[in-house]
Amino acid sequence: MDTSLLNALPSLVIGLADLAAAFLFMYGLHRMASPVTASSGIFVAGVGMAVAVLSSFLVAFDVSSTAQPHLMVNIALALVALALGGGVAWWSGRTVAMTSMPQMVALYNGMGGGAAGAIAAVELFGGKAQGPTTLTVTLLGAVIGAVSLSGSLIAWAKLDGVINKPLRFKGQQIVNGLVLIATGAVGAAIVLAGVGLPVLALTQPQAITLFFACALALGVLMTLPIGGADMPVVISIFNAFTGLAVALEGFVLQNPALMIAGMVVGAAGMLLTLLMAKAMNRSVSNVVFTNFGEAAKHKQGKIKGELKPMQPGDAGIAMRYATSVIIVPGYGLAVAQGQGKLFEFVKLLQAGGVSVKFAVHPVAGRMPGQMDVLLAEAGVPYDMIFQLEDINDDFKTTDVALVIGANDVVNPAARTDKSSPIFGMPILDADQAKQVLVVKRGEGKGYAGIVNSLFYGDNCHMVYGDAQAVLVQMIEAVRGLGLPAAA
Ligand code: TAP
Repeated sequence: MDTSLLNALPSLVIGLADLAAAFLFMYGLHRMASPVTASSGIFVAGVGMAVAVLSSFLVAFDVSSTAQPHLMVNIALALVALALGGGVAWWSGRTVAMTSMPQMVALYNGMGGGAAGAIAAVELFGGKAQGPTTLTVTLLGAVIGAVSLSGSLIAWAKLDGVINKPLRFKGQQIVNGLVLIATGAVGAAIVLAGVGLPVLALTQPQAITLFFACALALGVLMTLPIGGADMPVVISIFNAFTGLAVALEGFVLQNPALMIAGMVVGAAGMLLTLLMAKAMNRSVSNVVFTNFGEAAKHKQGKIKGELKPMQPGDAGIAMRYATSVIIVPGYGLAVAQGQGKLFEFVKLLQAGGVSVKFAVHPVAGRMPGQMDVLLAEAGVPYDMIFQLEDINDDFKTTDVALVIGANDVVNPAARTDKSSPIFGMPILDADQAKQVLVVKRGEGKGYAGIVNSLFYGDNCHMVYGDAQAVLVQMIEAVRGLGLPAAA
């Protein structure tokens, strides 16, 4: 065979593999849009990732690549890194608790940003990023990746309770603004020095180090003042940042798989951020620049009515004799890991002829889709799960709304109290059901830190206890009726 053709073969295979990886990422993402196909979508995207990794190794056989000699040297290190990273990810993915998912997402997202920053560092320190355009793109990817890395680590620390207070000081926004300007100025100086116009009394490696230090500090300073409660939205913003940084570094490396994957992640992260902010009726800038916890300390008027307790067994029997029940799951159900018992109870009700539906609020829980995943985990069929806009009209014709571990997403203050931090947030109209049963442990507030007037309504009873323990008692009570045979 012609040797030039043989030499060109690896680069052709690499190009095709990158294209296949990019296609698999997008097809996987498309399948993730529905709960029915979501798990296969994750598998498809995973295969795409494996193809992209394999294609990176193929570069070692591409004699036309300038990176080839380095890759040959570093291939063993890359394999060790893959085994370590893959092993840790496999273990943590299998053992993570459902309620710790946001922390894990924060950590992995930070790693993505860090990887983009590391690529930029190799290109910059190694002097491979040449010319004003490549230098500018590399630096942009570096700053966004570094901000995402340090910001995500702070977000992780806040979600995990390692840092449990927003750290604010006077003039913080000014300090943040100055650090941002300093990062931009050092970046500009690096580009100018790269084209032979040095403006700083620093060597290029010193300036690059300063640039990274400023960018990392910026991520920390940006995230420290934001309340822990807003971290899921912040993680989504950093997710978009990571995607963008990866896409920019993909451009620098001329790697189409990185460019496409990065752009897809960046766009998806930004859309998710906007959707989350919309579902809470807040703007993204309100999340970043306002402390939700402080906003929640508004003066709430005295709520009329009283809290009326009910025994779990009585509540279970009331539902058994109802015609229709809508269940509103919330964060507390995930905390209690009560999803299995909940579905067991639902099957008992259905066996008794009760019509049961699940109503899921877009921001119920602490991360997007958390309730859908929780219910899917318990085996609840998708056709029993309804989103807010599809079910809200049904509450007024429903006998019982069972609110289990949910609070803010059913708080009528969102409709009526203009001074409430959740005013304007679309809520599930559970208060309009003929009877409302609320399962929670005590008088704990929800994420927004406000009292819920629904609990004081004439049609509402409180069933106190851990969601899982309450469900066990409800199941026993309904089974005790002896009608019909246990499901
Ligand atoms: P929350 O309003 O946070 O209320 C959860 C309730 O569950 C609490 O009032 C708590 O009361 C109860 N609870 C906790 N552990 C429990 C257990 N083991 N058994 C029974 N009940 C338990 O939850 P929600 O209604 O799901 O609302 C979600 C909130 O998070 C919204 O404000 C939303 O804006 C916010 N948020 C969501 C997201 C996403 S994307 N989902 C992102 C950012 C913010 P007790 O302590 O009395 O038990």
